[in-house]
Amino acid sequence: MTKTILITGANRGLGLEFVRQYAKEGATIIACCRDPNEAKDLQDLQKKHLNIEIHSLDVSSESDRLKLKEKVSKPIDILINNAGMLEKGAAFGNISVDELNKTFLVNAVAPLKLTETLSENIAKSQRKLVVCISSSMGSISDNTSGGYYSYRASKTALNMLMKSAGVDLASQGIQVLLLHPGWVKTRMGGSDAMIEPEVSITGMRKVIEKYSPAAGEVRFYRYNGEIVAW
Ligand SMILES: NC(=O)c1ccc[n+]([C@@H]2O[C@H](COP(=O)([O-])OP(=O)(O)OC[C@H]3O[C@@H](n4cnc5c(N)ncnc54)[C@H](OP(=O)(O)O)[C@@H]3O)[C@@H](O)[C@H]2O)c1
Repeated sequence: MTKTILITGANRGLGLEFVRQYAKEGATIIACCRDPNEAKDLQDLQKKHLNIEIHSLDVSSESDRLKLKEKVSKPIDILINNAGMLEKGAAFGNISVDELNKTFLVNAVAPLKLTETLSENIAKSQRKLVVCISSSMGSISDNTSGGYYSYRASKTALNMLMKSAGVDLASQGIQVLLLHPGWVKTRMGGSDAMIEPEVSITGMRKVIEKYSPAAGEVRFYRYNGEIVAW
């Protein structure tokens, strides 16, 4: 049976590459982005693959999340919470509360709330999987260089929120997976990054394909299948 995969932040970077690879494989794609009219690369992919539908979604907006739920009634096999933001932010002594709040909302709270909003669609699918694109920058044990307060803490919070969700969703057969995509050449990763989006997404798709945790278990993997320490 054809899988249905919903991807946030699908207009560029890793989200767009997820769409490209899964659409080529024949999956049905629900591609979400803030401004579909400006999403030229995504529109071009849609012209090549009839199995892509595009929806408007600012993940931080509750009304957008609810409107999406009204428009999407079909089962969702895999929800990929990919949309994210990074602001380097000020150094210690000048931390911005607004930046912390905004980054927490987009990177941590929104993936949890979208999972809640779409949990019925996920529960009635075959695969029943929620994937969140986290970051090794959210690993407490890996943090030896400090800084990046809002980004690091938002990804740590994402990991914990989704660990709880994974435990709570186990009774419905829903699995939760956290992934570090590597340091990837996107607008966020920059041109000095180590790998191309194609390599990162090919790796993450393999991890997703093989993922079969025990009920309520939530794991944090690198794109190449290595475990990331919390
Ligand atoms: N690249 C890396 O090296 C790296 C490393 C570790 C983790 N990650 C994670 O990987 C994910 C994808 O990052 P990327 O590298 O592809 O970054 P990117 O090229 O900067 O793309 C970010 C995507 O998130 C979307 N987005 C941001 N805020 C949003 C909001 N409020 N609502 C909906 N969409 C929103 C952007 O949409 P707009 O075009 O509308 O802004 C864009 O599609 C993120 O969660 C990031 O934290 C990336």
